Amino acid sequence: MKRTYMILLFPFCLLLLSFSLSIGAPAENPTAGAKEGFIGAETCKECHETQYGSYAESIHFKKSVKGPESQDACESCHGSGARHVEKGGGRGVDIFAFGKDVDPDAKSAKCLACHERTPGMDLWAMGVHRRNDVSCDSCHTLHAAGRQKPREPDVCFGCHKDIKIETNKRSHHPIREGKIKCSSCHSPHGSLSRYMVNADDSRELCFRCHADKRGPAVWEHPPVEEDCQSCHAVHGSSHMKLLNERIPQLCQNCHDWSRHPGTPYDKSASFTSRWDCLRCHPAIHGSNSPHAEGLRFVR
Ligand code: HEC
Ligand code: HEC
Ligand code: HEC
Ligand code: HEC
Ligand code: HEC
Ligand code: HEC
Ligand code: HEC
Ligand code: HEC
Ligand code: HEC
Ligand code: HEC
Repeated sequence: MKRTYMILLFPFCLLLLSFSLSIGAPAENPTAGAKEGFIGAETCKECHETQYGSYAESIHFKKSVKGPESQDACESCHGSGARHVEKGGGRGVDIFAFGKDVDPDAKSAKCLACHERTPGMDLWAMGVHRRNDVSCDSCHTLHAAGRQKPREPDVCFGCHKDIKIETNKRSHHPIREGKIKCSSCHSPHGSLSRYMVNADDSRELCFRCHADKRGPAVWEHPPVEEDCQSCHAVHGSSHMKLLNERIPQLCQNCHDWSRHPGTPYDKSASFTSRWDCLRCHPAIHGSNSPHAEGLRFVR
């Protein structure tokens, strides 16, 4: 008798549970069918032909788990539209919009309902962007034909004007030229590394594309082993090869060369050529010469 009671009660509990879950998060569960209060994209189309059209061109429309005929295509992001339509529509009338005054986390939550498991998104919550009130729609445009990945670097430049100036300098990483993107080096969704670089640290980042600089060299130049940025800027510089300063100043930050061969009165080197340190020390990142002169990065 007791067992039958339990067996009967169990499915009832499940039913209760799923009912309370669906109330708690009506618009958030993408795998459920047409939802309570959802009236479907065709109704929205009557008044929002433009947005319907742009959305229909998007990868979301084409690839959405629900497919093009989805009952809740619009409402998966905008929430239930029943009352909005009842009242004849309008701005601020019972519909979730991605306006500037809307809480950024509330906006992102709409997207995370489906994108929580997109690779890398687990770091969104602690990322610098989220903590500075940047939301998904700050970078992604959802009503646009084709793909919804942001146009880099333009989207980033919108907020990072200082970086834009850097990348316009004489020597720069080929970002403007489209050879690499901001996201080749950064994880805009968040990262555990400093400045959200997508490597353990900035030196490891450099090696991903400049593996020849990794070494180990027979004769090492200590700053190269420590931090590439002791000599190089990352985004851009007015000096050649992304150098922080011009040569010889760059070298003289660290080197007192009073004992250096080739003083102005020495025949072995003219005064002017002395300033061209690289002419005699070309192996500046370290030398693999079998000879002791490698010690001076002469070859
Ligand atoms: C994947 C999420 C998503 C879906 C699905 C979606 N939208 Fe949007 N919608 C947005 C975002 C984000 C904005 C803010 C502007 C932008 O990013 O383009 C927006 C803006 C709007 C606006 C306001 C435009 C303005 O002038 O302020 C309307 C109207 C709209 N959407 C209607 C629709 C309709 C109709 C559908 C279905 C055909 C739809 N949306 C589907 C995310 C979505
Ligand atoms: C009866 C016509 C009508 C229908 C149907 C309708 N809307 Fe609207 N909606 C409007 C009007 C009018 C506005 C104000 C537009 C403006 O001022 O440019 C509006 C504004 C919006 C906005 C912007 C709100 C804001 O605060 O900025 C969104 C988002 C939106 N509608 C989504 C939807 C969605 C999703 C559907 C379908 C579920 C839908 N609408 C159905 C008439 C309608
Ligand atoms: C600071 C700008 C920025 C913000 C904010 C942002 N994204 Fe992105 N997102 C990007 C860029 C850039 C890419 C393209 C990266 C690439 O090409 O590898 C991208 C790619 C994606 C992709 C495609 C991933 C893939 O592997 O193909 C998804 C999905 C996505 N973002 C969702 C989101 C969601 C959800 C949010 C909010 C929680 C968000 N994004 C916030 C810049 C941003
Ligand atoms: C109803 C579920 C759902 C919602 C809500 C949703 N997405 Fe998506 N999104 C998808 C699916 C499904 C794909 C296709 C995934 C794939 O290609 O693997 C996708 C793809 C993307 C992509 C990659 C597009 C590309 O060019 O490859 C981006 C970026 C993206 N979504 C951003 C967003 C943002 C930002 C929001 C919130 C405004 C959002 N999504 C809301 C389901 C959703
Ligand atoms: C070649 C790799 C690389 C590329 C490409 C790159 N960055 Fe960076 N970025 C870095 C590194 C490394 C740092 C850390 C610099 C430091 O330690 O001072 C950084 C720092 C930053 C910072 C914070 C520090 C500062 O200087 O304000 C911002 C913001 C930034 N990058 C934005 C961008 C944007 C926007 C783009 C695309 C236009 C971009 N980055 C492209 C490697 C890169
Ligand atoms: C809506 C504005 C906005 C957009 C668009 C934007 N960012 Fe940011 N970003 C910020 C803010 C705000 C901060 C935090 C304050 C700061 O460091 O400037 C930030 C910080 C950063 C940082 C530094 C992180 C740190 O640790 O200091 C990097 C790197 C960065 N953004 C890269 C990008 C890239 C790459 C893009 C384009 C894919 C992008 N941002 C687009 C607003 C934006
Ligand atoms: C995503 C790949 C990538 C990463 C990561 C990267 N670089 Fe580069 N780097 C490039 C490309 C591409 C060029 C241009 C090469 C060319 O035009 O032949 C370049 C050029 C350079 C140059 C020469 C610039 C000039 O004016 O000729 C220097 C110096 C440099 N990178 C340093 C660094 C440093 C330091 C790091 C780490 C903070 C780094 N790079 C990370 C791709 C990368
Ligand atoms: C002691 C200063 C210094 C340090 C530290 C340094 N570099 Fe350089 N780097 C230079 C100089 C000087 C040049 C210009 C060499 C030339 O034109 O012959 C250069 C040129 C480059 C170039 C472009 C030419 C080439 O050889 O491919 C790249 C790429 C580069 N460095 C990457 C790196 C990376 C990666 C690191 C960190 C592992 C690093 N550098 C650390 C001084 C330095
Ligand atoms: C951030 C500091 C720093 C910068 C910048 C720097 N060096 Fe060095 N360099 C060192 C250190 C540390 C050593 C190791 C020898 C020492 O302790 O004196 C060294 C060693 C050398 C040596 C070998 C000398 C010896 O005694 O073994 C030469 C040659 C050299 N550097 C040339 C240069 C040139 C040329 C530049 C400019 C392109 C330069 N360095 C920039 C820190 C630096
Ligand atoms: C004409 C060629 C030449 C030029 C130009 C030159 N060097 Fe040297 N440098 C040498 C030679 C050769 C040695 C090795 C001397 C020795 O082994 O006694 C040396 C040694 C050094 C040493 C190690 C000696 C010491 O004091 O411990 C440093 C550091 C150094 N050079 C830095 C520089 C810097 C910085 C510049 C540019 C301002 C520069 N050199 C320009 C040829 C040159």
